[in-house]
Amino acid sequence: MKPKVFVTRRLPQGAMDVLEENFDIECNPYDRVLTREELLAGVAGKDGILPLLTDRIDDELLDAAGEQLKIVANYAVGFNNIDVPACTARKIPASNTPGVLTDTTADLAMGLLLAVARLIVPADVYARAGKYEGWAPLLFVGADVHHKTLGLLGFGRIGFAMAKRAAGFDMKVLYSDVAPVDAQIEKQVGATFVDKETLLRESDFVSVHVPLTPETRHIMDAPDFALMKPEAYLINTARGEVVHEAALVEALKRGQIAGAGLDVFEFEPEIHPELKAMDNVVILPHIASASLETRTKMGLIAADNLIAVLIEGKTPPPTCLNPEIYE
Ligand code: DGY
Repeated sequence: MKPKVFVTRRLPQGAMDVLEENFDIECNPYDRVLTREELLAGVAGKDGILPLLTDRIDDELLDAAGEQLKIVANYAVGFNNIDVPACTARKIPASNTPGVLTDTTADLAMGLLLAVARLIVPADVYARAGKYEGWAPLLFVGADVHHKTLGLLGFGRIGFAMAKRAAGFDMKVLYSDVAPVDAQIEKQVGATFVDKETLLRESDFVSVHVPLTPETRHIMDAPDFALMKPEAYLINTARGEVVHEAALVEALKRGQIAGAGLDVFEFEPEIHPELKAMDNVVILPHIASASLETRTKMGLIAADNLIAVLIEGKTPPPTCLNPEIYE
């Protein structure tokens, strides 16, 4: 008998094929996020769960799953939706999908940066509306990107990948994080470690690449926007809660910053209505990792973790978040 796995949303076919070959899969039949009740009912009696970042995995859910649950394989690199200590206390491994979405996410962060600086979205809307009547010196005049300063708040895998892209635009790259990285790594992309205040004061673009933790929640708040240049832009492809959204709206309204490129929102899927009304803000529906290749690879990593634990008995699974349970 195949192990039973609950998949909380249909994944790309390449990943579904592997899951279906190896497991007795029960998958969310709807094209929407499951309600809490549906989620709690779905996990009952399963050996493994494959949740999304929209599914909260906590004590209540682990109780609802029952004693036979052996692994939670998250379909995301971010795992703020999982109460990892609660999994650890039950000796259940939790895993994520690091690595495969790094470049795809950095591509989109750079795309947002270019879009907001060069007014790509409103210019497209204008041209489609039949308003273009000929070249004009002041038509959609934005800001240059090349040779500007990019400040990376967070210099992990995705921050580093963003720095590589910035190097191609001859940008000066600053970063701040809990500690500087190895000088060799800095040298590869010409990045300089600075404190957060210096980064905010000197950057023309501030791009956030921190995971969501209690320490990084609202890492961009009113005093932080006050330090930024009025011609600077904020880019966020990390998690919505790292930015105090109401403070961002105020900063934009007061002209404390020039604009923002946002893929994530504090109260996702709700988006602050005032942000939606602003021309100097580009708004995307959390699609930074959304290429077919990457979304398939994310599913295959989650499948590898499930296979390791439920079929091969290999522990810890490849991208385990709490390997200490095996010590
Ligand atoms: C993640 O993986 O954490 C992204 O937010 C979605 O791919």
